[in-house]
Amino acid sequence: MQAVKQGSGMIVLGLESSCDETGVALYDTERGLIAQQLHSQIDLHAAYGGVVPELASRDHVRRMPVLIRQALAEAGVSMAGLDAIAYTAGPGLAGALLIAAGTGQALAATLGIPALPIHHLEGHLLSPLLADDAPAFPFVALLVSGGHTQLMRVDGVGRYALLGESVDDAAGEAFDKTAKLMGLAYPGGPVLARLADQGVAGRVKLPRPMLHSGDLNFSFSGLKTAVMTQLRDASIAPADMAAEFQAAVVDVLVAKSLAALKQTGLSRLVVAGGVGANQALRARLNEATARRRQRVFYPEPALCTDNGAMIAFAGALRLLDGEGEGEGGAHAVAVRPRWPLDSLSAPR
Ligand code: KG4
Ligand code: ZN
Repeated sequence: MQAVKQGSGMIVLGLESSCDETGVALYDTERGLIAQQLHSQIDLHAAYGGVVPELASRDHVRRMPVLIRQALAEAGVSMAGLDAIAYTAGPGLAGALLIAAGTGQALAATLGIPALPIHHLEGHLLSPLLADDAPAFPFVALLVSGGHTQLMRVDGVGRYALLGESVDDAAGEAFDKTAKLMGLAYPGGPVLARLADQGVAGRVKLPRPMLHSGDLNFSFSGLKTAVMTQLRDASIAPADMAAEFQAAVVDVLVAKSLAALKQTGLSRLVVAGGVGANQALRARLNEATARRRQRVFYPEPALCTDNGAMIAFAGALRLLDGEGEGEGGAHAVAVRPRWPLDSLSAPR
């Protein structure tokens, strides 16, 4: 049984290495975030036009120990001052996941403290709670990352019900693939979004897939095909194509998010994951929810994409709820490259 320190906060080290960012952070249950270190592998993968899994794993191995030392120094905390270690256990790239998992389990075993395997998307969807203006439970979460597009009903930590999801490509994936076939640099999503701001939507016409499907599911894979077909017409300005593509994705995301609020009767929407950084999406959601006296919450811009802070924070919330108590024996390193979020349960 772990001794819980009385009167002072507990400090959780968070480790993230599921894809192409190495993230390390320290969260103090009394003081909040006390250190954040991040290394992006964008330059490493840029030459290949996408993430190369083997290169990602090797770079995570190189960076992780350095970032951990830097985070501890930043907070003025020693290894002995840690109360638990949270790490992303999935979903993600198997080899990449193993770096945070192996490091986290080994350190926790050495220090005799709990290791907390965290679901990457739980990290994303709880990250808006780190902001000063945090939403209360329950809320609807729109999770829009590179690998997932899902609407969830969130009633508390670990209490997630799937309302709808993409039947094919995720929104971020659609941004990335479309950017690639338009010849834009990796990572395509943000580059395509910047180009869209210089164009006019509606000059080209793209479909709004599944807008009227009557459910909360999405489909984005047809969009890139539509873009590809229309790109053959040389008279179309790339910026206008980008603007129409972005408008199509945003139209569907906004409509389904509003439908999810209506269906659940909830008034709070949380947007998380990389595509949540998209300014057009934010503008439309802000406007639409304000008109309906609903509210939309986002993580701080720096916490929209992958980071260690959201993992440390999710770990801290689970630790406070009693997870990891009595742990000390088995330190198995297990990761889940595929892991449905709604299979999670609440800590107790
Ligand atoms: O959550 P995230 O950092 O990583 C995953 O867990 O997948 O999301 C990355 C995704 C990528 O597909 C990227 O292109 C997209 O988020 N993204 C954006 C923007 N910034 C990142 N998509 C559209 N507009 C943006 N501003
Ligand atoms: Zn992510």
